[in-house]
Amino acid sequence: MRLTRRKFVQSVLGAGAAASLPGLFSGCSGSSKASTAASAGAPAQFSASREITFPKGFFWGTATAAYQIEGAWNEDGKGESIWDHFAHTAGKIKNGETGDMACDSYHRWREDIALMRAMNLNSYRFSISWPRVQPSGSGAANAKGFDYYSRLVDALLEAHIRPFVTLYHWDLPQALDDAGGWLNRDTADRFAEYVQLVARTLGDRVSDWMLFNEPSVFTYSGYLEGSHAPGHKSILDFLRATHVVNLAQGAGFRALKAARPAARVGTAFNMSACEPATNSDEDNLAAERAHAITNVWFVEPPLRGRYPDAFTFLPETAMGIKSGDMEKTRAALDFIGINLYYRTIASAPGALERAAHAQEWLYPVNMAGGQQGPKTDFNWEVWPKAIYDMVLRITRDYNRPVIEITESGCSYGDAPDASGVVRDARRIAYHREYLAAVARSIADGADVRGYHVWTLMDNFEWADGFGQRFGLAYTDFKTQKRTIKDSGRWYAKVAVENRVGPG
Ligand code: FCB
Repeated sequence: MRLTRRKFVQSVLGAGAAASLPGLFSGCSGSSKASTAASAGAPAQFSASREITFPKGFFWGTATAAYQIEGAWNEDGKGESIWDHFAHTAGKIKNGETGDMACDSYHRWREDIALMRAMNLNSYRFSISWPRVQPSGSGAANAKGFDYYSRLVDALLEAHIRPFVTLYHWDLPQALDDAGGWLNRDTADRFAEYVQLVARTLGDRVSDWMLFNEPSVFTYSGYLEGSHAPGHKSILDFLRATHVVNLAQGAGFRALKAARPAARVGTAFNMSACEPATNSDEDNLAAERAHAITNVWFVEPPLRGRYPDAFTFLPETAMGIKSGDMEKTRAALDFIGINLYYRTIASAPGALERAAHAQEWLYPVNMAGGQQGPKTDFNWEVWPKAIYDMVLRITRDYNRPVIEITESGCSYGDAPDASGVVRDARRIAYHREYLAAVARSIADGADVRGYHVWTLMDNFEWADGFGQRFGLAYTDFKTQKRTIKDSGRWYAKVAVENRVGPG
């Protein structure tokens, strides 16, 4: 998903402008030249050679999202989402694939819970499809849609697995997009109404919630890059959408707390440790700007009622900021969810580059992925230190908040061998190293409560269709058979022992 970004923006705006755009948030560009690191996994930044234990009660989980696994896109009264619409539009998804069926989890959810039981997990992060429970994004609920989630939640509780629910993982009701989507301030109120509906229905059994998944990714990829639904390609749309989402985050938080005062409410933010390319003052400033837009554009408004310094000036008019808005974006989040896969290297563009590309006066930053670590099949650099750095920075800057690792994971195409075994040693190496980094951050003072592997089973990877396999279980998309990979067996041992054994 992110790999396409830079390529796309370059083709539309020219290379210099691409480098200047804020949305190179995730920075994974550059060549796929294999790393020189000997190990299939990460370079040994944190020793995983000895046993590492985790705090008592640590949550061991996996994460999924409705559109990526459920299928049943038009069953039982479900409304159309922007992802249904987008995937049904020719040329948007690799090989013309769609999430119409995905992993068919709408029908096979019992099997999926069985997978989690086999992995000894005690937390499951999944999302609710808004148009499944409120088909047009306003008005009455769809009882059959709610029945599905209600059964799922009950079965999870019975299996002693915490239901950890994302309210918005990118599948806006199409009817709301027809009315302007995240460009329309009214969508913030619709979101709050939907949140309240869900909280009333499931909040007697669900206590832990995320309002959004990766707000900077879905606004960037959906409104500027155009590779995600709804496919806009406008920097003004992007800026405006980020503000409406911040308003929605505040409104959704208040709606949830009004319905369920004891609920614990956060958001799963995409984050990437931003390092300066050199020690120069210019590159350091560029890295701070990159951090502002990538990591805390949706954290500073709820916690401090302001936007961080990403741009040379805040484009308030373009963003549609009105007087009193920043108060509305405030929300005392109970935890910070961190989705982290890799780091970003930031540098300041030179004078020539700035002169040649008009947008650089607004965002004078070049962002790229690191090139030292090994690469996954998605061309994302494996760099465990990024999760350590990020967790500690958030710990320092926001007064030691509760943190949940809401996603981390890697795409490798390993398939069953002749005996049906999936030997994905590189995935084990990845999680061993990232977990060692998380453990070190806890030892150094961070309050991290859980780790959720992206993902339970191979699923629909947005614009990349079924091409990228992140699962702890292998999905055969023809038969829908799931096979637990070696990494899933390894994670089962980690979860039950609450420790990562020596590698
Ligand atoms: C994250 C998304 C998730 C999945 C992983 C690979 O950005 O939250 O849905 O696509 O990347």
